[in-house]
Amino acid sequence: VEPDVVTDVLIVGSGPAGASAALALSTYGVPNIVVTRHARLADTPRAHITNQRTMEVLRDLGVEDEVVAKATPQHLMGDTTFCTSLAGEELGRVRSWGNDPLVQAAHELASPTRMCDMPQHLMEPVLIDAAVARGTHLRFSTVYRSFVQDADGVTVTVEDRLRGDTYTIRAKYLIGADGGRSQVAEDAGLPMGGQMGVAGSINIVFDADLTKYTAHRPSTLYWVLAPGATVGGIGAGLVRCVRPWNEWLIVWGYDVTAGAPDLTTEYAESVVRKLIGDDEIPVTVKSSSAWTVNEMYAQTYSNGRVFCAGDATHRHPPSNGLGSNTSIQDSYNLAWKLKLVLDGTASPRLLDTYTAERAPIGRQIVTRANKSIGETAPVFEALDGLAPQTPEQLWANIAARKDATEAAEKQRARLREAIAFKVYEFNAHGVDLNQRYTSEAIVPDGTPEPGFDRDPELYHQPSTRPGARLPHAWITSGTRTLSTLDTVGQGRFTLITGIGGDHWTRAAEAQDLAITTVVIGPGRQYEDPYGDWARLSGTADGGALLVRPDGFVAFRHATAAASAEEAERLLTAALRRILGHA
Ligand code: FDA
Repeated sequence: VEPDVVTDVLIVGSGPAGASAALALSTYGVPNIVVTRHARLADTPRAHITNQRTMEVLRDLGVEDEVVAKATPQHLMGDTTFCTSLAGEELGRVRSWGNDPLVQAAHELASPTRMCDMPQHLMEPVLIDAAVARGTHLRFSTVYRSFVQDADGVTVTVEDRLRGDTYTIRAKYLIGADGGRSQVAEDAGLPMGGQMGVAGSINIVFDADLTKYTAHRPSTLYWVLAPGATVGGIGAGLVRCVRPWNEWLIVWGYDVTAGAPDLTTEYAESVVRKLIGDDEIPVTVKSSSAWTVNEMYAQTYSNGRVFCAGDATHRHPPSNGLGSNTSIQDSYNLAWKLKLVLDGTASPRLLDTYTAERAPIGRQIVTRANKSIGETAPVFEALDGLAPQTPEQLWANIAARKDATEAAEKQRARLREAIAFKVYEFNAHGVDLNQRYTSEAIVPDGTPEPGFDRDPELYHQPSTRPGARLPHAWITSGTRTLSTLDTVGQGRFTLITGIGGDHWTRAAEAQDLAITTVVIGPGRQYEDPYGDWARLSGTADGGALLVRPDGFVAFRHATAAASAEEAERLLTAALRRILGHA
């Protein structure tokens, strides 16, 4: 039977994973179709924290400026506050999301981009608009139903919700970016570890002018330690800023074994009132929905020609703000591989490296996000607020920290320590940037894995060892200042060398595959006036790095090649391995 529609890549879902897969594929010139269940994109804020690595991906895909223009900037994200309610007592703050002066310096040194807060209902249109402008065909109100695959492709049955009928789309590859209840992952039989439904949570979206309680301590997150706040949920009650300072989202837990409460407007308003703590503030509840905290990750991200990305493969609570970030990075890892396989440059074996590279990251972030929930408990413990008790007892315990007693001094110290420890959720720069891949698409250079000098979750440590992301350094070209990361990407491999590296550039130019060549040194195409690149490159001037289209170092040679033949032999062998031909 002839399929009704034919394409190269069919993407199910228009969330961060699906939209970014479409954008990357269209940027690389790969025909693709997105089908998505609803007649609209996300209509609630959902994921929002956008980390530097994601911003680098968006920079390469040409939408960084638009995201920056629409997002809440980093400096308004950072005074993460713990309080008894917004109007109530403040218990302490953590300078978060790169707003601690030392962490801020680390952010500036690590990347040409800044973190920002970009709610999902604003992010999705940016990604999808750009994807459609570059060629993506988008089909709203279209539901994935099933697939069958054979040696040449995948035939997918979808339902048109407007007409109420089904039809088939034939694609060479299928991407299941259909979120935490992924039917594609289930139909593909992807093996999963962990469990769903660990705790219950409610999201309440509302409008209220809270300037009075927030503008002086600008933050994306205000954590509320109120009676009931340890039941279910994500560690405490949360008032999250959607738009400063009049659009908000509250996260409040419920006992998952008892089932979600009836989400009436009265119920939602009562939760909002409790967390704001000031009944004079006018509040308009816009929506409320129940969801569960999950701790689940796929061990394999693909089956034949079917690949899953995003929440389809990793399901975890919003702690650390990793959901949308990891989803976008999954798709960015997959898209260039699909392109090179589809145009015949690479063997389909290259696609096996997707699981090898991304599954360990998925597992890591699921574990991290769930651990962060548990790390809020010491804040309550410091206030003796975990044991079952009346609200009056909790308030009394909280008040007791003000006493001029030894016990109160100890309590204050415990509280400070417990709040400061939350940097693992709010300032985990290493979790954001330290991803290092091991796979067949990475050629080991014989050096040992350098490990990390400091806590790898908190601190980013750049490296050019194959498998690491290319470090950022500001370099110049004439009067222009640009990042080393700006010299790579655009769907192409890049060879970076310096003075004395001519054998490498010639070897790169001799390859069948188009490789961008970058020479950094005095009087060359790019200069390194600050000496930053010399410090980070991990090679002698005449050495070479081969960087993949996703900005990860795939091959490194520490010194100049002895001859043109040696450069060509080594580079050709490296590319054969990376592209799955070896
Ligand atoms: P996502 O779930 O975003 O997208 C899935 C897409 O697939 C959607 O377009 C959907 O319509 C489509 N789809 C599903 N099944 C389909 C089918 N059979 N056929 C066609 N299309 C189908 N994170 C966070 O950090 N902070 C937060 O506050 C929240 N809040 C939140 C609220 C709600 C209600 C949800 C659902 C999720 C969150 N999240 C969140 C999680 C965050 O949204 C999530 O990590 C990312 O959106 C994951 O992106 P994906 O693209 O993988 O899935």
